[in-house]
Amino acid sequence: MILNSDQLNAYDRDGYLVLESFVSAEACDELRARAEQLVREFDPSVISVFSTHEQTRTSDDYFLDSGDKIRCFFEENAFNSDGTLRQNKEQSINKIGHALHDLDPVFDRFSRTKAIEQLVSDLGINAPLLLQSMYIFKQPRIGGEVTCHQDATFLYTEPLRMVGLWLALEDATIENGCLWAIAGGHKLGLKSRFMRVFPATDGLAAGYRPPATAKTVFRVSDDSPWPEERLVPLEVKKGTLIVLHPLLPHLSRENKSSKSRHAYTLHVIDESVRYPKENWLQRSEEMPLRGF
Ligand code: FE2
Repeated sequence: MILNSDQLNAYDRDGYLVLESFVSAEACDELRARAEQLVREFDPSVISVFSTHEQTRTSDDYFLDSGDKIRCFFEENAFNSDGTLRQNKEQSINKIGHALHDLDPVFDRFSRTKAIEQLVSDLGINAPLLLQSMYIFKQPRIGGEVTCHQDATFLYTEPLRMVGLWLALEDATIENGCLWAIAGGHKLGLKSRFMRVFPATDGLAAGYRPPATAKTVFRVSDDSPWPEERLVPLEVKKGTLIVLHPLLPHLSRENKSSKSRHAYTLHVIDESVRYPKENWLQRSEEMPLRGF
């Protein structure tokens, strides 16, 4: 076991766990160099503005088709009003997602370590499948806000057997937009699900035909506000891994500082769960999910 009983108890109580020095500085730098290379090779004529706000997300095929690909997403504030980039391409990308761990050899190696396998096993994921990976840049000055959410809203399984891993590739501080979490908020239950709409079948079931343009919807089961007074900043050093419960409410604020805040995230589910076809992230049959 990597985790002791105190750490397991803290995870159950708080919904997150901070593991310092989980990855070496050299490994962080190698991943960072590889991500920067992917961005250099990216053709910016394929423009998709990534936004945490619902309208953009729901209308974006580029996003919805990225579950089994490596795609770059721009910061919302990367563009001038005439559609040109305000800064160079390298400083305009919000993130790369969502199958880096399967398609890129450097990310594959980084994601499939004995330490990560043991860690998720300690947390009850005994037949792991690596579901999603994201490299997040949180660019200086334009790094966008990620509003308060639960990861299970976007990656839902029945039962909920998933672990989110958030690794700091640079020091993360309040200044450059670290994670914030509502400690214990994973006990509040799931508030909403982000779901693909299947107009023909959903329309028949509901007795009407929804607009064909709506590809996804947020189904809200609890619209009460988050108890944001319970938010705690998770300021961590480079190489620190934060483990996130799928129901933990968390956010990160804008980065208005001159420092970037690179992070790598990985979501691991258990093979035994049901993975709904309504989840936004889907794989083609040629690229099934894999374990370690
Ligand atoms: Fe998240």
